[in-house]
Amino acid sequence: MLDIQHLSVSYAGGVSALSDFSLHMERGEVVALVGESGSGKTTAVRTILGLLPPGGTVEGGTVNFEGRSLLDLSRREWGRLRGKEISVIFQDSGAMLNPIRTVGSQFREYIRAHSALSRREAAELAGEMLGRMGLPNPESILASYPFQLSGGQRQRVGIAMAMTFRPRLLLADEPTSALDVTTQAQIVRQLLELRDACRTAVLLVTHNLAVAAYMAGHIVVMRSGRITDQGDREHLLRSEEPYTQQLLRSVPDLGGMWDV
Ligand SMILES: Nc1ncnc2c1ncn2[C@@H]1O[C@H](COP(=O)(O)OP(=O)(O)OP(=O)(O)O)[C@@H](O)[C@H]1O
Ligand SMILES: [Mg+2]
Repeated sequence: MLDIQHLSVSYAGGVSALSDFSLHMERGEVVALVGESGSGKTTAVRTILGLLPPGGTVEGGTVNFEGRSLLDLSRREWGRLRGKEISVIFQDSGAMLNPIRTVGSQFREYIRAHSALSRREAAELAGEMLGRMGLPNPESILASYPFQLSGGQRQRVGIAMAMTFRPRLLLADEPTSALDVTTQAQIVRQLLELRDACRTAVLLVTHNLAVAAYMAGHIVVMRSGRITDQGDREHLLRSEEPYTQQLLRSVPDLGGMWDV
């Protein structure tokens, strides 16, 4: 489904942010990218999404999604793909919402931009998606302004929006890092349930090896733009790579996630 080969990306001033990065994902698979700050995780996500910031350049390599090269898509093609077949959530999805418009009007607008649904159908679908992310009173959330919601509620809204069209691929860049441990665990569980229902593949970016091990079948460890280790949870727990061991030592407590 997603196949990245030998991808290299640099930023202006010669900063090499990704070097010889290769990654393969099957349909419905959850893969985690872990590594310290500056290791190139967000650069990988932005390259896949076709949204490198100014100064970011793909120096080489290929990114194929369902047999199409994502590095060569036109703006129009991206318009059809992004938000529908490939979705994204960030650390604070609420920051992407307009603060002076209700959540409901933005959610409806997003749905209608990608479908032929009526206003009423869009409102129903928005409410249904919020319910599926464990928001008990969708109507009141839809009537709220983003600042009236908690961080956890905003993040649930962002995930609900991203999953609306059952995307084939969800790129989740630190989706729970800004939240307290209990909320993190709940949101991770709800995201996994929604993923099961939609059979969406998830590329999860996280500092947190516990979240990665809980969610992902395959974990890729990065440092300074390069992959230093990868494998399943058991592989990483037993890995002899010094950097993987260092990450394991710094795993924060995550409400018993390791026990699952
Ligand atoms: N817009 C930019 N312009 C120039 N350099 C950048 C830019 N964005 C990232 N970099 C550099 O590219 C490298 C990789 O950064 P990136 O944001 O991909 O790392 P990350 O793993 O997502 O880090 P974090 O965990 O802090 O989010 C770093 O050296 C960073 O300083
Ligand atoms: Mg990042």
